[in-house]
Amino acid sequence: MDSVEYHFPVLVREIVEVIRDELESLDEIVFVDCTLGLGGHSSEIIPCLSKNSSIFLLDRDKESIEIALKRIGSLLKDRENVKVLNISFSRFFENLELNGKMLVVLADLGISYYQIKNQSGFSFNRDTFLDMRYDKNQSVTAFDIINTFNFQELYDIFYRVFENKKLVNKIVSVIVVDRERNEIRTTYDLNKSISKVVSFKFLKDILQKVYLALRIFVNRELEELTDLLNFFKNYKQNFLLLIISYHSLEGKIIKDFIKTSGLTFKKIKPSKDEISRNKPSRSAVLWVIKK
Ligand SMILES: C[S@@+](CC[C@H](N)C(=O)[O-])C[C@H]1O[C@@H](n2cnc3c(N)ncnc32)[C@H](O)[C@@H]1O
Repeated sequence: MDSVEYHFPVLVREIVEVIRDELESLDEIVFVDCTLGLGGHSSEIIPCLSKNSSIFLLDRDKESIEIALKRIGSLLKDRENVKVLNISFSRFFENLELNGKMLVVLADLGISYYQIKNQSGFSFNRDTFLDMRYDKNQSVTAFDIINTFNFQELYDIFYRVFENKKLVNKIVSVIVVDRERNEIRTTYDLNKSISKVVSFKFLKDILQKVYLALRIFVNRELEELTDLLNFFKNYKQNFLLLIISYHSLEGKIIKDFIKTSGLTFKKIKPSKDEISRNKPSRSAVLWVIKK
Protein backbone atom coordinates (compact mmCIF):
# COMPACT_ATOMS: atom_id res chain seq x y z
CA MET A 1 0.00 0.00 0.00
CA ASP A 2 1.30 3.42 -0.88
CA SER A 3 1.19 5.39 2.39
CA VAL A 4 1.51 8.72 0.54
CA GLU A 5 -1.76 8.05 -1.26
CA TYR A 6 -3.52 6.85 1.87
CA HIS A 7 -2.37 9.30 4.54
CA PHE A 8 0.86 11.08 5.34
CA PRO A 9 1.22 11.46 9.14
CA VAL A 10 1.84 15.07 10.09
CA LEU A 11 4.75 16.25 12.31
CA VAL A 12 5.68 12.65 13.05
CA ARG A 13 9.43 13.24 13.51
CA GLU A 14 8.73 16.13 15.89
CA ILE A 15 6.30 13.99 17.92
CA VAL A 16 8.82 11.18 18.38
CA GLU A 17 11.43 13.76 19.43
CA VAL A 18 9.07 15.34 21.97
CA ILE A 19 8.23 11.95 23.47
CA ARG A 20 11.93 11.11 23.76
CA ASP A 21 12.88 14.53 25.19
CA GLU A 22 10.01 15.17 27.57
CA LEU A 23 9.84 11.83 29.35
CA GLU A 24 12.40 10.79 31.92
CA SER A 25 11.94 7.18 30.94
CA LEU A 26 10.25 5.37 28.08
CA ASP A 27 9.65 2.41 30.35
CA GLU A 28 6.22 1.63 31.79
CA ILE A 29 4.22 4.14 29.82
CA VAL A 30 0.54 4.11 28.99
CA PHE A 31 0.36 5.34 25.41
CA VAL A 32 -3.05 6.22 23.96
CA ASP A 33 -3.37 7.00 20.26
CA CYS A 34 -6.84 8.58 20.31
CA THR A 35 -7.00 8.79 16.52
CA LEU A 36 -5.24 5.74 15.10
CA GLY A 37 -6.34 6.47 11.51
CA LEU A 38 -4.10 4.38 9.29
CA GLY A 39 -1.50 4.03 12.02
CA GLY A 40 1.04 6.49 10.64
CA HIS A 41 1.96 8.04 14.00
CA SER A 42 1.65 4.86 16.01
CA SER A 43 3.96 3.00 13.64
CA GLU A 44 6.74 5.45 14.57
CA ILE A 45 5.93 5.81 18.28
CA ILE A 46 5.36 2.18 19.26
CA PRO A 47 8.92 1.03 18.49
CA CYS A 48 10.17 3.67 21.01
CA LEU A 49 8.14 2.19 23.87
CA SER A 50 9.33 -0.59 26.16
CA LYS A 51 7.59 -3.97 25.97
CA ASN A 52 5.98 -3.47 29.39
CA SER A 53 4.25 -0.26 28.30
CA SER A 54 0.51 -0.39 27.68
CA ILE A 55 -0.81 0.69 24.32
CA PHE A 56 -4.37 1.74 23.47
CA LEU A 57 -5.26 2.44 19.85
CA LEU A 58 -8.62 4.10 19.24
CA ASP A 59 -10.62 5.25 16.26
CA ARG A 60 -14.30 5.85 15.57
CA ASP A 61 -13.87 4.52 12.06
CA LYS A 62 -13.83 0.74 11.89
CA GLU A 63 -12.54 0.66 8.32
CA SER A 64 -9.47 2.77 9.19
CA ILE A 65 -8.71 0.50 12.16
CA GLU A 66 -8.79 -2.56 9.90
CA ILE A 67 -6.37 -0.98 7.44
CA ALA A 68 -4.10 0.25 10.26
CA LEU A 69 -3.90 -3.20 11.80
CA LYS A 70 -2.83 -4.68 8.49
CA ARG A 71 -0.09 -2.07 8.27
CA ILE A 72 1.21 -2.11 11.83
CA GLY A 73 0.08 -5.54 13.07
CA SER A 74 3.64 -6.88 13.02
CA LEU A 75 4.71 -4.16 15.50
CA LEU A 76 2.07 -5.33 17.97
CA LYS A 77 2.60 -9.08 17.64
CA ASP A 78 5.00 -9.69 20.52
CA ARG A 79 3.43 -7.17 22.89
CA GLU A 80 1.00 -8.24 25.57
CA ASN A 81 -0.55 -4.95 26.62
CA VAL A 82 -2.22 -3.72 23.47
CA LYS A 83 -5.90 -2.88 23.09
CA VAL A 84 -7.51 -1.66 19.88
CA LEU A 85 -10.89 -0.03 20.38
CA ASN A 86 -13.47 1.21 17.90
CA ILE A 87 -14.80 4.04 20.09
CA SER A 88 -14.78 7.83 20.42
CA PHE A 89 -11.88 9.13 22.48
CA SER A 90 -14.27 11.15 24.69
CA ARG A 91 -15.60 7.83 26.05
CA PHE A 92 -12.26 6.23 26.73
CA PHE A 93 -10.55 7.95 29.65
CA GLU A 94 -13.08 7.67 32.47
CA ASN A 95 -12.37 4.01 33.10
CA LEU A 96 -8.63 4.01 32.52
CA GLU A 97 -6.54 2.52 35.33
CA LEU A 98 -2.92 3.60 35.23
CA ASN A 99 -1.31 1.89 38.22
CA GLY A 100 1.19 4.72 38.56
CA LYS A 101 2.32 4.65 34.94
CA MET A 102 2.96 7.86 32.97
CA LEU A 103 0.16 8.71 30.53
CA VAL A 104 1.12 9.80 27.01
CA VAL A 105 -1.79 10.75 24.75
CA LEU A 106 -1.84 11.65 21.06
CA ALA A 107 -4.89 13.14 19.34
CA ASP A 108 -4.41 13.93 15.64
CA LEU A 109 -7.77 15.63 15.17
CA GLY A 110 -10.22 15.51 12.32
CA ILE A 111 -10.10 13.47 9.16
CA SER A 112 -7.53 11.42 7.27
CA TYR A 113 -6.66 11.73 3.61
CA TYR A 114 -7.86 8.14 3.23
CA GLN A 115 -11.33 9.08 4.48
CA ILE A 116 -11.51 12.13 2.23
CA LYS A 117 -10.56 10.06 -0.79
CA ASN A 118 -12.53 6.89 -0.09
CA GLN A 119 -15.48 7.48 2.19
CA SER A 120 -18.85 8.95 1.43
CA GLY A 121 -19.71 12.66 1.66
CA PHE A 122 -16.42 14.15 2.84
CA SER A 123 -15.12 15.52 -0.45
CA PHE A 124 -16.86 18.02 -2.70
CA ASN A 125 -14.75 16.74 -5.60
CA ARG A 126 -16.45 13.33 -5.84
CA ASP A 127 -20.18 12.70 -6.24
CA THR A 128 -21.18 10.58 -3.24
CA PHE A 129 -24.03 10.31 -0.76
CA LEU A 130 -23.91 13.04 1.91
CA ASP A 131 -22.91 10.75 4.76
CA MET A 132 -19.85 12.25 6.57
CA ARG A 133 -19.96 9.90 9.56
CA TYR A 134 -16.67 8.53 10.86
CA ASP A 135 -18.69 6.02 12.88
CA LYS A 136 -21.20 4.32 10.59
CA ASN A 137 -23.27 3.16 13.60
CA GLN A 138 -24.15 6.73 14.39
CA SER A 139 -27.67 7.47 13.16
CA VAL A 140 -27.53 11.06 11.85
CA THR A 141 -25.82 11.76 8.52
CA ALA A 142 -25.05 15.06 6.76
CA PHE A 143 -27.97 14.17 4.45
CA ASP A 144 -30.39 14.16 7.42
CA ILE A 145 -29.07 17.51 8.60
CA ILE A 146 -29.22 19.22 5.20
CA ASN A 147 -32.72 17.94 4.49
CA THR A 148 -34.46 18.14 7.87
CA PHE A 149 -32.85 20.83 10.05
CA ASN A 150 -34.68 24.14 10.15
CA PHE A 151 -33.24 27.45 8.93
CA GLN A 152 -31.88 28.52 12.31
CA GLU A 153 -30.27 25.14 13.03
CA LEU A 154 -28.49 25.17 9.67
CA TYR A 155 -27.52 28.79 10.16
CA ASP A 156 -25.84 27.97 13.48
CA ILE A 157 -23.87 25.08 11.94
CA PHE A 158 -22.45 27.25 9.15
CA TYR A 159 -22.03 30.45 11.13
CA ARG A 160 -19.59 28.72 13.49
CA VAL A 161 -17.15 28.32 10.59
CA PHE A 162 -17.93 31.33 8.36
CA GLU A 163 -18.74 34.06 10.91
CA ASN A 164 -20.35 36.01 8.06
CA LYS A 165 -24.09 36.61 8.47
CA LYS A 166 -24.83 37.64 4.89
CA LEU A 167 -23.03 34.70 3.31
CA VAL A 168 -24.48 32.15 5.72
CA ASN A 169 -27.96 33.54 5.09
CA LYS A 170 -27.48 33.05 1.35
CA ILE A 171 -26.17 29.51 1.76
CA VAL A 172 -28.92 28.39 4.11
CA SER A 173 -31.67 30.09 2.08
CA VAL A 174 -30.71 28.28 -1.11
CA ILE A 175 -30.53 24.92 0.70
CA VAL A 176 -33.96 25.43 2.26
CA VAL A 177 -35.54 26.42 -1.09
CA ASP A 178 -33.85 23.71 -3.18
CA ARG A 179 -34.66 20.83 -0.84
CA GLU A 180 -38.39 21.60 -1.20
CA ARG A 181 -38.18 20.57 -4.87
CA ASN A 182 -35.86 17.60 -4.52
CA GLU A 183 -33.90 16.10 -1.65
CA ILE A 184 -30.28 17.23 -1.57
CA ARG A 185 -28.88 13.71 -1.58
CA THR A 186 -25.33 13.86 -2.81
CA THR A 187 -22.29 16.09 -2.64
CA TYR A 188 -22.89 17.28 -6.20
CA ASP A 189 -26.52 18.17 -5.32
CA LEU A 190 -25.18 20.30 -2.48
CA ASN A 191 -22.45 21.86 -4.64
CA LYS A 192 -25.06 22.73 -7.26
CA SER A 193 -27.21 24.58 -4.72
CA ILE A 194 -24.26 26.49 -3.21
CA SER A 195 -22.95 27.43 -6.67
CA LYS A 196 -26.21 29.35 -7.30
CA VAL A 197 -25.35 31.92 -4.61
CA VAL A 198 -21.56 32.08 -4.74
CA SER A 199 -19.41 33.37 -7.58
CA PHE A 200 -17.20 30.83 -9.32
CA LYS A 201 -14.06 32.59 -8.12
CA PHE A 202 -14.84 31.85 -4.46
CA LEU A 203 -16.73 28.61 -4.88
CA LYS A 204 -13.91 26.22 -3.94
CA ASP A 205 -13.01 28.10 -0.74
CA ILE A 206 -16.62 28.30 0.31
CA LEU A 207 -17.34 24.65 -0.41
CA GLN A 208 -14.31 23.74 1.67
CA LYS A 209 -15.82 25.59 4.63
CA VAL A 210 -19.34 24.26 4.04
CA TYR A 211 -17.98 20.70 4.14
CA LEU A 212 -15.83 21.44 7.20
CA ALA A 213 -18.81 22.90 9.07
CA LEU A 214 -21.00 19.90 8.29
CA ARG A 215 -18.30 17.35 9.14
CA ILE A 216 -17.58 19.03 12.48
CA PHE A 217 -21.27 19.00 13.33
CA VAL A 218 -22.05 15.45 12.17
CA ASN A 219 -19.17 14.03 14.21
CA ARG A 220 -19.46 16.41 17.19
CA GLU A 221 -15.77 17.13 16.73
CA LEU A 222 -15.57 20.22 18.95
CA GLU A 223 -17.55 18.54 21.72
CA GLU A 224 -15.26 15.49 21.52
CA LEU A 225 -12.20 17.72 21.91
CA THR A 226 -13.80 19.65 24.80
CA ASP A 227 -14.66 16.40 26.60
CA LEU A 228 -11.10 15.13 26.16
CA LEU A 229 -9.65 18.33 27.61
CA ASN A 230 -12.16 18.33 30.47
CA PHE A 231 -10.80 14.97 31.51
CA PHE A 232 -7.27 16.41 31.68
CA LYS A 233 -8.49 19.52 33.52
CA ASN A 234 -9.40 17.33 36.47
CA TYR A 235 -6.67 14.74 36.10
CA LYS A 236 -4.41 14.61 39.13
CA GLN A 237 -1.42 12.60 37.85
CA ASN A 238 1.30 13.59 35.39
CA PHE A 239 0.73 13.34 31.66
CA LEU A 240 2.05 14.34 28.26
CA LEU A 241 -0.71 15.40 25.89
CA LEU A 242 0.04 15.86 22.19
CA ILE A 243 -2.74 17.33 20.08
CA ILE A 244 -2.57 18.18 16.40
CA SER A 245 -5.19 20.77 15.46
CA TYR A 246 -6.07 21.85 11.93
CA HIS A 247 -8.27 24.93 12.23
CA SER A 248 -8.94 27.89 14.48
CA LEU A 249 -12.05 26.46 16.16
CA GLU A 250 -9.97 23.59 17.53
CA GLY A 251 -7.10 25.97 18.32
CA LYS A 252 -9.40 28.22 20.34
CA ILE A 253 -10.68 25.35 22.49
CA ILE A 254 -7.10 24.22 23.20
CA LYS A 255 -5.92 27.76 24.00
CA ASP A 256 -8.81 28.26 26.44
CA PHE A 257 -7.98 24.96 28.12
CA ILE A 258 -4.32 25.92 28.53
CA LYS A 259 -5.28 29.33 29.93
CA THR A 260 -7.72 28.00 32.51
CA SER A 261 -5.62 25.00 33.54
CA GLY A 262 -2.36 26.97 33.81
CA LEU A 263 -0.38 24.04 32.35
CA THR A 264 2.91 24.46 30.51
CA PHE A 265 2.80 24.01 26.76
CA LYS A 266 4.59 24.60 23.50
CA LYS A 267 3.41 24.86 19.92
CA ILE A 268 5.21 23.23 17.00
CA LYS A 269 4.42 23.87 13.32
CA PRO A 270 5.45 21.80 10.31
CA SER A 271 8.67 22.79 8.56
CA LYS A 272 8.63 24.34 5.08
CA ASP A 273 10.03 21.07 3.83
CA GLU A 274 7.15 19.04 5.32
CA ILE A 275 4.57 21.45 3.90
CA SER A 276 6.09 21.18 0.44
CA ARG A 277 5.97 17.37 0.65
CA ASN A 278 2.52 17.18 2.23
CA LYS A 279 0.25 20.15 1.55
CA PRO A 280 -2.51 19.31 4.07
CA SER A 281 0.08 19.71 6.86
CA ARG A 282 0.19 23.48 6.26
CA SER A 283 -2.65 24.16 8.69
CA ALA A 284 -1.43 21.75 11.38
CA VAL A 285 -0.30 22.86 14.84
CA LEU A 286 1.14 20.42 17.37
CA TRP A 287 0.27 21.37 20.95
CA VAL A 288 2.55 19.80 23.53
CA ILE A 289 0.92 20.08 26.95
CA LYS A 290 2.60 18.66 30.00
CA LYS A 291 1.86 18.11 33.65
C1 LIG B 1 -6.10 12.88 11.05
S1 LIG B 1 -6.68 11.25 11.15
C2 LIG B 1 -5.43 10.41 12.04
C3 LIG B 1 -4.34 9.87 11.18
C4 LIG B 1 -3.32 9.05 11.94
N1 LIG B 1 -2.63 9.85 12.94
C5 LIG B 1 -2.32 8.46 10.98
O1 LIG B 1 -1.13 8.84 11.04
O2 LIG B 1 -2.71 7.61 10.17
C6 LIG B 1 -7.94 11.36 12.35
C7 LIG B 1 -8.62 10.04 12.69
O3 LIG B 1 -9.33 10.24 13.91
C8 LIG B 1 -10.57 9.60 13.85
N2 LIG B 1 -11.42 10.33 14.77
C9 LIG B 1 -11.91 11.58 14.61
N3 LIG B 1 -12.58 11.96 15.72
C10 LIG B 1 -12.48 10.92 16.61
C11 LIG B 1 -12.96 10.71 17.94
N4 LIG B 1 -13.65 11.63 18.58
N5 LIG B 1 -12.65 9.54 18.56
C12 LIG B 1 -11.92 8.58 17.91
N6 LIG B 1 -11.46 8.73 16.64
C13 LIG B 1 -11.73 9.88 16.00
C14 LIG B 1 -10.98 9.65 12.39
O4 LIG B 1 -11.84 8.59 12.09
C15 LIG B 1 -9.61 9.54 11.69
O5 LIG B 1 -9.33 8.20 11.37
